[in-house]
Amino acid sequence: MRNFGEDTITQAVIDRIGNAKDPRVKRVSEALVRHLHSFVREVEPSQREWEFAIDFLTRVGHMCTGARQEFILLSDTLGVSMLVDAINHRLPGNATETTVLGPFYVGQPPELALGADISHGETGPRLMVEGSVHSDDGKPLANVIVDTWHSDADGYYDVQKDDGADSLTLRARFRTDQNGRFWFQSIVPSFYPIPDDGPVGQMLTAQGRHPYRPAHVHFMIASPGYETLVTHVFIAGDKYLDSDVVFGVKDKLIRELEPLPAEQNGAAFRLRYDFVLARSAGGKAAAG
Ligand code: BEZ
Ligand code: FE
Repeated sequence: MRNFGEDTITQAVIDRIGNAKDPRVKRVSEALVRHLHSFVREVEPSQREWEFAIDFLTRVGHMCTGARQEFILLSDTLGVSMLVDAINHRLPGNATETTVLGPFYVGQPPELALGADISHGETGPRLMVEGSVHSDDGKPLANVIVDTWHSDADGYYDVQKDDGADSLTLRARFRTDQNGRFWFQSIVPSFYPIPDDGPVGQMLTAQGRHPYRPAHVHFMIASPGYETLVTHVFIAGDKYLDSDVVFGVKDKLIRELEPLPAEQNGAAFRLRYDFVLARSAGGKAAAG
């Protein structure tokens, strides 16, 4: 077969994929070709625009290092991460809603005792974080791993700072007590721009968008027999709640900072959230 033109090229490529052994590879490849070709038909890029597109993706790739994942930022800012998240978390009505993981999670953070201060000398308004973890049938879940991480008062994560400090700050792992409760001390995080000194930042500028995320505390909560919950608690009143650059905000994840007397545990505000985990499909939940 030869002499392909605008009207025949798409089917020719799809036919060529027809022998793929793995049916999922076949399905995904066919859909990719159909949608990519229809995008090109709609946009009708000039040769120069197509070269720009290839150069943009090349720059996205070159920007990636162990500490910087520009492709995740591209997926996040185009709303693809939240779409994949939504498709994969069609959870029961009362389960806590999910949102993006983001690039600043560090696996296996240090496990600290309940009540520990994770701010390690960082300055900012004091924050007492309190919460609980329950099953979707209302049972408190004990001994559940609660990973948390958040930005400092200037909007930076520890892993973004090149200050020579080797300790992980504003992140830790806790375990819920017998009543499914956890608590720790920290400082109030700030809104912040996602890393925007690369091609994704240039894309945002060209699209007339800002790079900011509203202030939030990240949580990853895992217990055998339950879907691992990846989510944030957003701070009510933040000016970026309605324009999060990665489309991650959900009303049910927003909580007020409650003012506390400064002398109570040294905290000036309290942030509280009661999380509900969904049982995994076919999974056997451990006794809570
Ligand atoms: C974050 O919340 O840490 C984050 C999420 C997506 C992109 C950049 C940062
Ligand atoms: Fe974040």
